[in-house]
Amino acid sequence: MACPQHHDSLLPSQAFLWFLLLDLGLLPSPSFAACGDPPTFPNMEISGPAKLTYDVGERVVYKCKPGYQKVVSETIFTICGADNNWPPISSDACRKRSCSTPRDPLNGQVNVLNGSYELGTQIQFVCNNGFYLVGAETLHCLVKGSSVEWSEEDPSCQKLLCQPPPEITNGGYSTDQEEFEYLDVVTYTCNSNTGPDPFSLIGEAKLHCIGRNLWSGDPPECKVVKCPYPTVPNGRQTSGFSAKHYYKSTVTFACLEGFFLQGHNMVVCEANSTWQPALPRCGKEPPPPPTFRPVSRGIQSSRSAPSGSAPSSSQSGNSKSSERLHCERGRAWIIAVTIVLQEYSFIYA
Ligand SMILES: *[C@@H]1O[C@H](CO)[C@@H](O)[C@H](O)[C@H]1NC(C)=O
Ligand SMILES: *[C@@H]1O[C@H](CO)[C@@H](O)[C@H](O)[C@H]1NC(C)=O
Repeated sequence: MACPQHHDSLLPSQAFLWFLLLDLGLLPSPSFAACGDPPTFPNMEISGPAKLTYDVGERVVYKCKPGYQKVVSETIFTICGADNNWPPISSDACRKRSCSTPRDPLNGQVNVLNGSYELGTQIQFVCNNGFYLVGAETLHCLVKGSSVEWSEEDPSCQKLLCQPPPEITNGGYSTDQEEFEYLDVVTYTCNSNTGPDPFSLIGEAKLHCIGRNLWSGDPPECKVVKCPYPTVPNGRQTSGFSAKHYYKSTVTFACLEGFFLQGHNMVVCEANSTWQPALPRCGKEPPPPPTFRPVSRGIQSSRSAPSGSAPSSSQSGNSKSSERLHCERGRAWIIAVTIVLQEYSFIYA
């Protein structure tokens, strides 16, 4: 008859023998008298190699993980309990290490993003106006070996400079500076033309150095801008009289007696030597009379009735005579009906 292998089914006499052998250290530890994995912590780890099981009474010693430091002098440990459980222990003994206190760079500042310089925090570097950052903007406090360090070298703030802005044809700026500082200005002017018409400056005359090699805009253009002499048949100029019209020259028009203006009465000479908008026309046909539209009046006077309703319901004292007539007719009707009703009740009283 084969002996049963399982401990639970041991006979009393066999159990005695088994405990005896266990006491003598001749048998492996039984599964019901051991602890499993000891508790884990974000800031502590067990000292030495881990085991699969731990005997009752066996001690596990903890040490701080890299990046953490011990803040108590005692050994941190736990003991496998008789109930096969690890009694809880505090993890306050290991605190995050802090990275070195960063210093403001010259011409810049360092910003603390997380309120401290502890493991896992970030700091950010910003340069003053007129300076730019060389190096990493954000540093992280990371584990290095058993301690902590900033992820990168501190960056520095360098003075921001602009190279001279582009040269232009028919114009330029009057300085031979090799480099420009932050917010320095160059002013372009157009050359005087040897031909009959002057050069006009189109665009911004002044450029500012606003970043590292960055100017506030494109340089202007210098060229002859000349619009054709503006004539409007059956019309006359009312302002902007000139024999020649250059860039941004402005002319206004009116029509002669009996003619009506179509288009805009004011035009401007634009960079492509055309009048904008197009020159107006003076025609025989009068413009269409302004149409009666209760919708637009409803929008103008906010306290009047909704735009869809009849004008007679308007309370805003409108100046349109047709509307007033309509109101008065309505009032007359009400008076007439009231009189009729009064007479009716008088007769039958
Ligand atoms: C630190 O602050 C930054 C920016 O506010 C945030 O994105 C990051 O999650 C914070 N880190 C920690 C560890 O609190
Ligand atoms: C001239 O420039 C104006 C804008 O200023 C533009 O609307 C017009 O189309 C241009 N005309 C020609 C002929 O390029």
